[in-house]
Amino acid sequence: MAYRDLEFPENFLWGSAAAAHQTEGGNFNNWTEWEKIPSKIKDGSNSSIACDHYNRYEDDFDLAKKLGHQVHRFSIAWSRLEPEQGKWDESEIDHYRSVLQALVDRDIQPMVTLHHFTEPVWFRDLGSWLNPKSPEIFAPYCRKVAEAYSDFDIIWNTINEPMVVTTMGYVFGEFPPEEKDFGKGLTVAKHLLMAHGQAATQVRQVYDEIGREQPQIAPVISVSHFMPADSENDDDLELVDYLDELYNHVWIRGAIEGILPEPAGDGSRYPPLDNSVDFIGLNYYSRMVVSSELDFMAGDMPPKDPELERCEGLDWEVYPEGYYQVLQSFGKKYDKPIFLTENGIGTSDDEVRQRYIINHLQEVHRAIQDGVEVLGYLVWSLTDNFEWAQGFSSHFGLVEVDYETLERKPRESAYMFKGIIEQNALTEDIQEKYLLD
Ligand code: GAL
Repeated sequence: MAYRDLEFPENFLWGSAAAAHQTEGGNFNNWTEWEKIPSKIKDGSNSSIACDHYNRYEDDFDLAKKLGHQVHRFSIAWSRLEPEQGKWDESEIDHYRSVLQALVDRDIQPMVTLHHFTEPVWFRDLGSWLNPKSPEIFAPYCRKVAEAYSDFDIIWNTINEPMVVTTMGYVFGEFPPEEKDFGKGLTVAKHLLMAHGQAATQVRQVYDEIGREQPQIAPVISVSHFMPADSENDDDLELVDYLDELYNHVWIRGAIEGILPEPAGDGSRYPPLDNSVDFIGLNYYSRMVVSSELDFMAGDMPPKDPELERCEGLDWEVYPEGYYQVLQSFGKKYDKPIFLTENGIGTSDDEVRQRYIINHLQEVHRAIQDGVEVLGYLVWSLTDNFEWAQGFSSHFGLVEVDYETLERKPRESAYMFKGIIEQNALTEDIQEKYLLD
């Protein structure tokens, strides 16, 4: 196959993403408590010391720098900063100052996520996101973070993947608190939307109060490309439209339009959402094929395509074309730029990762050519880490972590990605080298 150089826009930003609970170690939150229950984590592990990133962040950022990264996305652990409601741990606030400073020292742009799946245990005990007051309970923490770090040049992410928190935690019951109740899921989605609004409002207010220019703020959503099991079956097509709307669009449209949309809300305005989305943070991993003849809500799915490569453990099908499709649909529906805040694959075979990244970037480039405004691309993840219910059994890192010694070793894909960043292009040479072997 003949390849050509695929150049990315000037000022396009490249880097990687991670999250506190998955890398830091030593956390105490709703997940650490849940992990103690036998059989919850597939490989029998728990997050425990994870990658010890809490102590090794400088080394990890040295690696990110060496690998050419321009942006690093990470999350702050709410449970560290506010171990009891309304009580702040100043040493933990200082810790993240050092983390931010370490990025700045290496000329890496920090992108900070306020909520990435985990919560303080006291918040869980108040009913977590089912509590009608949860958005207001979340707000002071957001204000504290904004006050503490507003002197840094930060790109802000409010909530990571609200629909994953909703579906995995409250509809399919595979994450804590293991609820299986569609109605509760809707309530949680609504409260997470309000929480996003509260977070953006707090950050904006703090910047206004100190007279600083407003930063870029975005929620980060997980997007799947839904496809019908039978493209001639009207019921399948209808199901695809329904799920695409419910999973991919309702929430973000609410954030952009400033309303609490049906079916989660009643369509009323929620003023804290006003001006809460500067860009859309978009995470894409895979497609989802659905059939109207199966009970989707019970988790029944058609058989997977044996021809496609899969993500280790999670079993997601590799489907780069879906990236183009979702980018097209987001580009058309919303007048907002998109930052690709996560994309990657869990695999022990680095050649699979190399192909995955290249094939997905080809689709990103195609979408950009066709008019979609994309600001940057972050690989999930810098290092291998604790992959939630999969434990340590799914390897998403550009950098391998030896969990015995905690030694880090960049994989070939990390150097390949470095080459892409340096050229700001997916060159013909890179495509030939990594796709034709
Ligand atoms: C996302 C999540 C990340 C990471 C990734 C790979 O849903 O934001 O924390 O685990 O998936 O599964």
